[in-house]
Amino acid sequence: MKITILTQFPDMFGPVLSESILGRAADKGLVEFKVINIRDYSVDKHRKTDDTPFGGGFGMVMTPQPAFDALKAIGAEGKRIIYMSPRGKLLDKQLATELSREEEFFILCGHYEGVDQRIIDAWNMEEVSIGDYVLTGGELAAMVLADAAVRLIPGCLSDPEAPLQESVYSGLLEYDQYTKPREYEGLEVPEVLFNGNHRLIHLWQFENSLRLTKKRRPDLFEKFTETAEGLTKDEKKILDAVLLEY
Ligand code: ADE
Repeated sequence: MKITILTQFPDMFGPVLSESILGRAADKGLVEFKVINIRDYSVDKHRKTDDTPFGGGFGMVMTPQPAFDALKAIGAEGKRIIYMSPRGKLLDKQLATELSREEEFFILCGHYEGVDQRIIDAWNMEEVSIGDYVLTGGELAAMVLADAAVRLIPGCLSDPEAPLQESVYSGLLEYDQYTKPREYEGLEVPEVLFNGNHRLIHLWQFENSLRLTKKRRPDLFEKFTETAEGLTKDEKKILDAVLLEY
């Protein structure tokens, strides 16, 4: 997969794309990141990429010229281009999964008051938000999007089943995790995790996930109860009990 990011602040991306799991994915050839500095395409003598908004208002708006020229130069015509924006469709697991299957896509990061609407319209951009809050720019959002998509590329995580079991992807929030030592400053790990009985351990984890999801994300819990299929008798019993609790 190839992900090309267009930004006025390319230095923000360095370690995020080269370290840890994203960096390893790039080393393995699963993904190629390219970060393009929009400023390099500005014909303005001060390499300006934004200007004040028509109609008044705060902040600065990205001008069409540097963005159009950058997009043309990197061959983005007809390709999937995402514009990071708090006005966009919310990033979720469906979109992350869909993007993880793309051969190539582009991400445009805006700053201040956003970008001239003609950039979005003429390049048929898809606006994506990472949450109902406003960031100072699209760069952090682009990193979130890239991370969420790349980790789902087969071969990126050491255990290919991992994404299916974890929070949200399974439809439930992930159960509580513990590691060594067994006791720390008087705090104990739940006994069931040591009994070696995988069925009981699984049921404990399932119940823990259900309770957590019901409390923190009633929306996900409701969806899970409506669509839950293929539960074992024991799992169903636990679900029924959790459903009866307040
Ligand atoms: N740019 C500024 N805020 C944003 C958000 N919440 N999501 C995506 N891009 C943004």
